[in-house]
Amino acid sequence: MTIADGIRESIEKSSWIRKMFEEGARLKAEFGEENVFDFSLGNPDLDPPVEFINKMRSLTSADIKNVHGYMENAGLPEARKAIAEKVARDHGADMEPGNIIMTCGAAGGLNVVLKAILNPGDEVIVIKPYFVEYGFYISNHNGTMVLVETNEDFSLNIDAISRAITPKTKAVLINSPNNPTGKIYSAAEIDALSSLLREKSDDGGSIYLISDEPYREIVFDNVEVPSILNYYNESVIVTSYSKSLSIPGERIGYIAVNPSCSGIDTLMAGMIVCNRILGYVNAPAFMQRVVSGMNNVTVDVDAYKRRRDLFVQGLEDAGYDFPRPEGAFYIFCKSPVEDDVEFVRHLQNYNILVVPGVGFGGPGYFRIAYCVSEDIISRSLPKFREALETFR
Ligand SMILES: Cc1ncc(COP(=O)(O)O)c(C=O)c1O
Repeated sequence: MTIADGIRESIEKSSWIRKMFEEGARLKAEFGEENVFDFSLGNPDLDPPVEFINKMRSLTSADIKNVHGYMENAGLPEARKAIAEKVARDHGADMEPGNIIMTCGAAGGLNVVLKAILNPGDEVIVIKPYFVEYGFYISNHNGTMVLVETNEDFSLNIDAISRAITPKTKAVLINSPNNPTGKIYSAAEIDALSSLLREKSDDGGSIYLISDEPYREIVFDNVEVPSILNYYNESVIVTSYSKSLSIPGERIGYIAVNPSCSGIDTLMAGMIVCNRILGYVNAPAFMQRVVSGMNNVTVDVDAYKRRRDLFVQGLEDAGYDFPRPEGAFYIFCKSPVEDDVEFVRHLQNYNILVVPGVGFGGPGYFRIAYCVSEDIISRSLPKFREALETFR
């Protein structure tokens, strides 16, 4: 069979995910589903909020003209209006419906932004460890991913970012709350990054700051997620309802561009065309109508907090080392040995499935996704302890 060389490589690069999946299936078949502690997938298990279900029900019986038809590629006017209001409120910033584009999830949104801004060979700075799909999205649009280390506590290393900037740098892509670390970048970090980007931007065109934030609403202990809109003009937010409403399969999200961004009309026109020609055409119509009414609705974030607290306490007591996650639903835990894959394999002997940090550009760590029940977490904790005690 002939397929493109680049795609053959992508299949190979994705193979560890497949291996994890296969290993999970094997363990579940052998020991029973309830005896396998699967923390490998970031697939939210909480039910969507009741308001979401009710809105869907009411819409199925509503008589809406041209309900299933094509629409403007940027999305339904009522969805863009509702979301502009939500962004203005949540970010404490100006936002207009004309600066919103409805997308097929955050993944679709990121591809739209990158396609619109990248010339071949342009560089996008990504902070390590990172959501591994970024590499594919950037190469989809002929860009080059430039990976930059964080500080030890996963905060932004502004000097390292500064050193990575070249005349080809088109954008810096950040993700906060972060997958895989659970870190939220502070106002001071965003401020310092914005100052750096202003200083480095030349007359020929500024460097965009893109914030991928599908976990913005999953935060604990009243920690605030500072908005890039208040720090840097050339800023673009990409997000989705995948995690905040537990609906990743419905593929609904949006792009919000800072109204002060230079050349905003051209940027918006470019992204709207990209939404069309990437083949998305427009975000799913039905879901646009549903989320238009969800400005005050999220999943039960306290359920994630209870799980985080349970896990953090249990892992600390067992002797594991990791920074306390402030948001999202991941713990990025230090492996007791440099080779994280070796320790991940050892955990599998205890029917525990986690993802090696090397898969996120963070070797020496492993990621635990705690979008599973408290019962599974509680039952897994003695196994985590035993695994650490018996290692080597
Ligand atoms: C950091 C990050 N960005 C983007 C996405 C993709 O989100 P969506 O399913 O809304 O496309 C995910 C999904 O897990 C993610 O973790």
